[in-house]
Amino acid sequence: MFISFEGTEGVGKTTLIQKLYDHFQFAGKDVVLTREPGGTPLAEQIRSLLLSVNHDEKMSHDTELLLMYAARAQHLERVILPALAEGKIVLCDRFSDSSFAYQCAGRGLSRDKLQLLNINFVAKMPDITFWLDAPIELGMTRARERGALDRFEQEKVSFFEKVRTGFEEIHQNEPERMKRLDATQVPEQVFKEALSYLN
Ligand code: TYD
Repeated sequence: MFISFEGTEGVGKTTLIQKLYDHFQFAGKDVVLTREPGGTPLAEQIRSLLLSVNHDEKMSHDTELLLMYAARAQHLERVILPALAEGKIVLCDRFSDSSFAYQCAGRGLSRDKLQLLNINFVAKMPDITFWLDAPIELGMTRARERGALDRFEQEKVSFFEKVRTGFEEIHQNEPERMKRLDATQVPEQVFKEALSYLN
């Protein structure tokens, strides 16, 4: 089973993923915890390029999109697909839905570009995706409390509002796959709700 986790900044993805990881381990399941962009040494290097703040040269939106998919191709081939082939549960912090929400809805890139990449380079979509949804201000406050802001976290509220509508659109189009979780609830409640979709 391939499970992904989505949402804007500071909505508590990490806490939920850790709880589910512990839950599956306790149940004796083989479970892999991974993230995007990243998840392999090479893909983590691409992540550094994507998140670092470089004031000398602005990264173009197309470059951003292509780096996301370069990292994803490596991650799929080296980690996700082999783990699924071995019957493991894969918990992935962000996946292709983030590209739709951030690069298309957020940055304004065309859906055609994204579709081209998904069709050719994403052999497997998640079986279920949890979208942790909360008002943008709440998450941004939490992100700021965590310390130095990365290139995405430095974006304005209006950018994240657009990203949120991107997730909402996927949720509307694919309600079977993408489940919305109310991330304003206490972590234990978010966890229980997620579990209810898995049983
Ligand atoms: P992440 O480490 O999950 O950030 P956070 O912990 O703040 O949720 O992801 C890094 C950033 O990369 C995040 O701001 C979203 C962005 N991103 C995209 O823009 N497109 C993508 O396809 C992915 C996977 C991530």
